[in-house]
Amino acid sequence: MAKSSKTIQIAAVAIIAVVAIAAIGIVLMGGLGADDRSALEKIKDRGKLIVGTSAGFPPFEMLNTSAAGGVEGIDMDVAKAIADSLGVELEIKNYDDFSVLITALQNGKIDMVIAGMTITDDRNESAAFSMPYYKADQALVVLKSNSEITNTTGLVGKTVAVNTGTTGQYYIEDNLPNIKEMKPFGTASDTFQALGGNKVDAIIIDSPVAANYISDSNPYKIVETIETNEFYGIAMSKNNAEDLVAEVNKIVGDMIESGEMDDIISKWSRA
Ligand code: ARG
Repeated sequence: MAKSSKTIQIAAVAIIAVVAIAAIGIVLMGGLGADDRSALEKIKDRGKLIVGTSAGFPPFEMLNTSAAGGVEGIDMDVAKAIADSLGVELEIKNYDDFSVLITALQNGKIDMVIAGMTITDDRNESAAFSMPYYKADQALVVLKSNSEITNTTGLVGKTVAVNTGTTGQYYIEDNLPNIKEMKPFGTASDTFQALGGNKVDAIIIDSPVAANYISDSNPYKIVETIETNEFYGIAMSKNNAEDLVAEVNKIVGDMIESGEMDDIISKWSRA
């Protein structure tokens, strides 16, 4: 009798202990782990907007040590306008490889991507895009001295440079199975270096970037514009970021309507 009541007492104490430890665990996890704040709340609490980009993509993002954040261009002016409207500081995180930007966004390393990024069905699966702020196509670029390649049909058996993980790469994969080799480079500027150094026969790259590289003193020419009808958008998280997307759409919409977006674009565009 005495023994069994003691067993019951021990069992009761054990159950209380287990429940108490579980309760403490839940409180600790709730306090330390879960963060219910929305993307916009996090930015405002932090007092800073963190924008990811990949420079070497003129006139949208170019490295310049004397620029705030080390990067300047159309996208960086848009980033600054968004930070100003939100009333927070701007931090630019530059990545030497365009193709890592969406992962950085998904891992919470950056609040948004502003990098001349085309809105595509695939990317819509992993990111939430703002309204479009720029329209572009692809361009086929060769050396001025090249009279052989005059359009994409002339690429059979040729080596073509692209910026890694971009719509230029996807265009080749989907439409040009007969080229000799596709060479991907982390930045767009590296593709022009490769062409200039005769490492590749041609480049397929966004038309405004190609246009930016065409000048009397540069050895490049555009031989074909490939009408891909792309629209650049600002990529944000799909996770609890509806308020941020709505706010960014409001800011970008106002910039387009007021003419500020056009001003920024002409400020950085050559020709
Ligand atoms: N618009 C193309 C894409 O979204 C190329 C973008 C490359 N941007 C850059 N900053 N390198 O795939």
